[in-house]
Amino acid sequence: MERLSATPAGITLGPIELVTEGGARNFVLEMRAGRFHGFVVRSGEAVTGYVDRCPHMGVPLAQELDRYLTGDGSLIQCSWHGALFRIDDGRCVGGPCAGAALTPWPVTIRDGSIVTA
Ligand code: FES
Repeated sequence: MERLSATPAGITLGPIELVTEGGARNFVLEMRAGRFHGFVVRSGEAVTGYVDRCPHMGVPLAQELDRYLTGDGSLIQCSWHGALFRIDDGRCVGGPCAGAALTPWPVTIRDGSIVTA
């Protein structure tokens, strides 16, 4: 099945509570065109989404389900070779692909639900 790097806008992923405060969660969307893998990071009532693909080697970041963040929750960390990414813009600030960036997956909150944007 084809791996997609974007989704249409307006898909409801579920209530914001699906993602723990200060945490991250994986989402897989199966569509006619293929399968999309992404993850959402939550800070308070705000969410930020990225395609689940490390710019270093093109693999999903988390080897353990939903393990996308550093221990203190301040950065996104790839589980393979330790690349570190800022949560707000996905820029790699350390590790083997410094200067590269995660691909944004636009998501927003609407009426308490996470929705693709
Ligand atoms: S695949 Fe992510 S750091 Fe190497």
